[in-house]
Amino acid sequence: MKSIALLIPLLTLLFANHTFEPSETCKSCHLTIYQEFTTTQHANASIFKDEIHAAVWKKHPKNKKLSSYSCAKCHTPASEKLEGLIGKHNGIVPDAKEPTELEGISCAYCHRIESIKHGRLMNVNVIATEEKRYFGTLKSSFESPFHRIKRDGAHFNSGNVCIGCHSHKQNKFGLNVCSTNIDNELEKSNCVSCHMPKVKGSVSTLNPTKEHTFHGFPGTHSHQSMLSQYVQFEIKPEGERFGVRIINHASHALSLHPMRLMELRVRVLHAGHYTTLPTQHLARVIGAEGKPKPPWLAKEEVKNTAIGGYEKRLIRYDYTLEAGDEVEVTMGYYLVNPKMLKGLGLEQSAVATKFHHFKTQTIKINKKES
Ligand code: HEC
Ligand code: HEC
Ligand code: HEC
Ligand code: HEC
Ligand code: HEC
Repeated sequence: MKSIALLIPLLTLLFANHTFEPSETCKSCHLTIYQEFTTTQHANASIFKDEIHAAVWKKHPKNKKLSSYSCAKCHTPASEKLEGLIGKHNGIVPDAKEPTELEGISCAYCHRIESIKHGRLMNVNVIATEEKRYFGTLKSSFESPFHRIKRDGAHFNSGNVCIGCHSHKQNKFGLNVCSTNIDNELEKSNCVSCHMPKVKGSVSTLNPTKEHTFHGFPGTHSHQSMLSQYVQFEIKPEGERFGVRIINHASHALSLHPMRLMELRVRVLHAGHYTTLPTQHLARVIGAEGKPKPPWLAKEEVKNTAIGGYEKRLIRYDYTLEAGDEVEVTMGYYLVNPKMLKGLGLEQSAVATKFHHFKTQTIKINKKES
């Protein structure tokens, strides 16, 4: 009883409604950052802007039975009705006319994450109560006439701020639907150094600076080329066969979300002609009784061929390479596994059906190697 009595005020504190300045307010002074941000999945994470998220929500049992939009905790956390949206049976449903529900993971929301509370099912973001004071990492900064600044380098530039939403999400069967490895010590890189690199352009319009932190969040929907340096391919000739070695320098698996289907496509140019070799599927499939199932019904990992964090994988092909041949290796993916499109009604969706290109590398076989 005692623990429940303590838990209720804690939950109220964590999920209490907060008011966040709309991202549009930041535009006048942080124009470059604002423009980068508006194109991202963070800005477009609501069911009204992300058609894939909307399609999954449409099928979700919580939508049908409980009318509890529990996804709001991470997909529209700046909503003024957050508490109502994630509560059960209260008739409060996502509302396209409510501007705070269109904000996604807004500027002010992310910049007010004070700490992360670790949880078994998922982590929770603890939001600073002071409204117009934002966490930042600049060593020294020009005074902002609009807001106060709280310097918190460690929490922000280490990527700790990302793991309230990205660390893991477990379903009622205890299966981790999605998880991102946060152990970044190996190569001194982290979520922020890889996904928010420094680029040219001023932090604000009031005080010209040479560079700022890129807020376009390269990922699977956009700016893939900013991440392709973290994955490399090598060719290992082995007599009548050869191997393609994939080297993943990212701390987490490639293609994190269980809907994705990553493919490795290889073709060899020999004497002016291309020979296409069998495509490899690299994906983590979740399901039950050996069959693929949606996240809310999945009890186990049915298959996992996804390239893991820091993994080096050798994939072999039955093909004899000769000196002068060129091996072209392409990695890319479908955001939604083509097998799931029909069930989700996404056959017509351009973004869901497109093969998104990640990286192509052409390797010439010289005499010594072959
Ligand atoms: C704990 C935080 C969290 C909760 C709660 C959550 N999500 Fe997500 N969701 C994420 C993160 C983080 C990503 C991005 C992961 C990635 O790209 O690998 C994501 C991505 C997605 C995507 C892929 C979108 C795309 O365009 O590719 C879908 C679909 C999705 N979520 C559906 C849902 C649904 C439906 C719910 C509610 C039933 C939900 N999520 C609840 C964190 C969450
Ligand atoms: C009236 C102008 C103005 C507006 C509006 C404004 N800012 Fe700023 N902000 C500034 C200035 C000036 C700086 C300091 C930049 C520098 O030192 O080069 C700054 C710095 C920051 C920093 C970095 C702090 C640090 O020291 O690392 C953050 C984070 C930030 N602003 C977030 C926001 C957010 C979020 C919004 C919208 C809700 C916003 N700002 C709106 C002027 C503004
Ligand atoms: C409030 C929750 C939340 C926080 C905090 C958060 N994210 Fe996300 N992130 C999401 C959700 C939800 C999605 C998926 C949105 C969608 O596709 O509908 C996402 C998507 C992404 C993507 C994929 C973009 C793409 O193109 O597919 C990247 C990369 C990412 N986040 C990086 C970060 C980094 C880096 C941080 C920390 C600086 C961070 N996120 C903090 C919720 C969050
Ligand atoms: C060493 C660089 C590196 C680090 C560190 C890193 N990532 Fe990534 N991330 C990548 C690469 C490479 C991809 C693959 C992009 C693609 O497939 O288009 C990726 C993809 C993603 C995606 C999209 C996956 C999907 O299936 O939609 C998300 C979300 C993401 N990272 C979040 C994070 C978070 C959160 C952290 C910190 C806990 C992090 N990343 C740390 C390099 C990195
Ligand atoms: C998902 C979380 C997230 C969102 C959303 C986000 N930021 Fe940031 N922002 C960060 C992190 C993390 C840093 C620190 C990066 C570092 O230390 O390398 C940062 C840095 C900054 C800085 C410091 C200056 C710089 O370039 O390093 C400013 C200013 C800023 N953000 C403004 C904004 C504005 C304005 C928006 C919306 C248009 C926004 N941020 C959206 C996480 C976020």
